[in-house]
Amino acid sequence: MLPEKVTLIEVGPRDGLQNEKNVIPTDVKIAFIEALKAAGLREMELASFVSPKWVPQMKDAEAVIAACLDPEARHFILAPNQKGVERFYATGADHIALFIGVSSAFNKKNINKTTEESWAEAAPLIEKLKADGKFVRICISTAFHCPYEGQVEKAATIDLCRRFAALGVDELSVADTTGMANPQDAYELFGALKALLPKRLLLTAHFHNTRGLALANIYACLLAGIDRFDASAGGLGGCPFAPGATGNVATEDVVFMFHEMGIETGVSIDRLLDAADLIQPYVSRPLDSKQYALYRRAK
Ligand code: HMG
Ligand code: MG
Repeated sequence: MLPEKVTLIEVGPRDGLQNEKNVIPTDVKIAFIEALKAAGLREMELASFVSPKWVPQMKDAEAVIAACLDPEARHFILAPNQKGVERFYATGADHIALFIGVSSAFNKKNINKTTEESWAEAAPLIEKLKADGKFVRICISTAFHCPYEGQVEKAATIDLCRRFAALGVDELSVADTTGMANPQDAYELFGALKALLPKRLLLTAHFHNTRGLALANIYACLLAGIDRFDASAGGLGGCPFAPGATGNVATEDVVFMFHEMGIETGVSIDRLLDAADLIQPYVSRPLDSKQYALYRRAK
């Protein structure tokens, strides 16, 4: 039985832009977020509070958030550590996303800590965030594959997810950082997580489209009972510390697939293409989106 509707979490303003070498003006980022909102996306990662030396594109995160944060929407700010959480508190926002890799080699490259060191820092922060009534999403990177260590055992991913679930987090976004998963892997991992994790926990799938399998992986997750998916308008994205990985699956391609299947998303493809049009002149590589290519060719 497939769901009648699914929820899409737009990660374009954060994952989509963090790896972009052109400096994108703050007002363009704000207009991009407004256009994505106009497309009907109610959940979105707006920016991340990370070191501006490590990820210069995110250095205007406070200004972007001040302009766009909507208390009626579920707008996430990413943070990797205590300093990031302090910056989050200063915004007055309600929804935070912490991130951590299953693979310690990746986590070290991404956050300069081993997975266990990041866990030790995150656990008390999460307890405080929950005590303060905040919504806590955890982005679990390298759930299938690590760019430095190769294949990641499903048992390791499941173990890390269970530890965060036990802390009472609200959502886990489980990510194929490098785009190396296949539909069988996706079905098995998400099926196992769905069976093992508490029902109240929101479980979200995050696929990068390096080898063109992201839509197939999303369909496999749907069959495993998942109804929440991260995606990025225009297929932008990639982690600067995951060499070889490309963009996220394009939101408009995901919306097209679901609508063709009769599954509601609440998102307008036309308005999404407007958002992609808006950001396209500012990015240094072509958008990776079937819908964008088809629609623009037809025009
Ligand atoms: P570090 O150099 O080890 O940090 O970097 P540190 O604690 O030694 O501090 C060094 C300096 O950074 C200090 O400033 C700190 O104040 C500052 P200084 O005294 O030199 O002027 N600092 C910060 N500044 C702003 N915000 C902060 C912060 N923390 C320290 N939060 C650090 C450690 C975590 C900061 C660094 O490694 C970093 O910024 N990493 C972020 C990497 C990143 O953004 N990766 C992409 C997001 S994850 C992702 O894309 C995956 C995902 O999409 C899912 C998937 O696909 O897998 C979510
Ligand atoms: Mg990502």
